[in-house]
Amino acid sequence: MQTVHQPTIAMVTGATGAIGQAIARQLAEKGLHVTLIARNEAKARQTADRIIHQTGNPHVRVELVDLSRQAEILALARRWEGPLHVLVNNAATAPRTRQETPEGIEMQFAVNVLSYLGMTLAFAGILKQSAPARVVNVASYWAGDLDLSDLEFKRRPYRNGTAYRQSKQANRMLTVALAERFQNDGITVNACHPGDVNSTLSNSLGFGGSQSPDEGARTPVWLATGPIGGQVTGKYFEHLRQTPCRFATDREAIEALYQVCLGYLTI
Ligand SMILES: NC(=O)c1ccc[n+]([C@@H]2O[C@H](COP(=O)([O-])OP(=O)(O)OC[C@H]3O[C@@H](n4cnc5c(N)ncnc54)[C@H](OP(=O)(O)O)[C@@H]3O)[C@@H](O)[C@H]2O)c1
Repeated sequence: MQTVHQPTIAMVTGATGAIGQAIARQLAEKGLHVTLIARNEAKARQTADRIIHQTGNPHVRVELVDLSRQAEILALARRWEGPLHVLVNNAATAPRTRQETPEGIEMQFAVNVLSYLGMTLAFAGILKQSAPARVVNVASYWAGDLDLSDLEFKRRPYRNGTAYRQSKQANRMLTVALAERFQNDGITVNACHPGDVNSTLSNSLGFGGSQSPDEGARTPVWLATGPIGGQVTGKYFEHLRQTPCRFATDREAIEALYQVCLGYLTI
């Protein structure tokens, strides 16, 4: 009989946001131990308390990390104790004007792209030791306009929608690159579109959102805990369905993006 491994320890980035909070709560409802990754301490503690109260699961805790700073990601991985079975990369930002991190990297590229890659690589050893393990990258169907020669909008005029679409294309391409690298390590890596949800992020991009945060969390949580997310790797999902990804076929472009992104990491 085939053993079914149920993930038990999970981490969610952007866990104070609309979709991240719903992902964390749904994981806690399923009995997982959940670490909320957040940068705002008061908001993070309130979110954890609310999830504990709503679910009755006391195993919800907070780690404070500014994901735009690679040193903070590395410090988190270094202080992490014990296994990790599920990493949900979900944090994102879309400032209306071009901003840079203290390390001088364009903000959307740093948070939306490099933090996904940095978290995954910083925790790769722990995920391998904890295998079977899963990485779920919350991406979007609204993706495109990636320019490998101008990832930071130094040449192109900065528009937050264009920078955001580029970052979500990168999430989907890097999912393929990471899945290949981890295919013999018992770690699956998949990407998904969560849903259209009213949030700080969607508002800053000029959208509202017709779905609830809980609906938005369904596909990421299904990938994090259901059988498909443990069996399939390197794929893209929308609405609980594997969906063809137009960015997953150009292996040369995927590898080139992966190498350029690696060059930014100090992890
Ligand atoms: N909403 C939609 O319709 C939609 C559609 C497609 C895809 N998505 C994807 O879904 C994911 C979640 O989006 P959302 O709509 O839930 O956005 P949101 O409510 O604005 O949440 C974004 C989260 O990211 C966190 N964050 C931003 N910068 C950070 C940093 N430097 N360090 C640490 N945390 C940081 C925010 O923290 P603070 O609370 O401290 O600001 C917040 O918790 C994103 O990956 C997005 O691309 C959303």
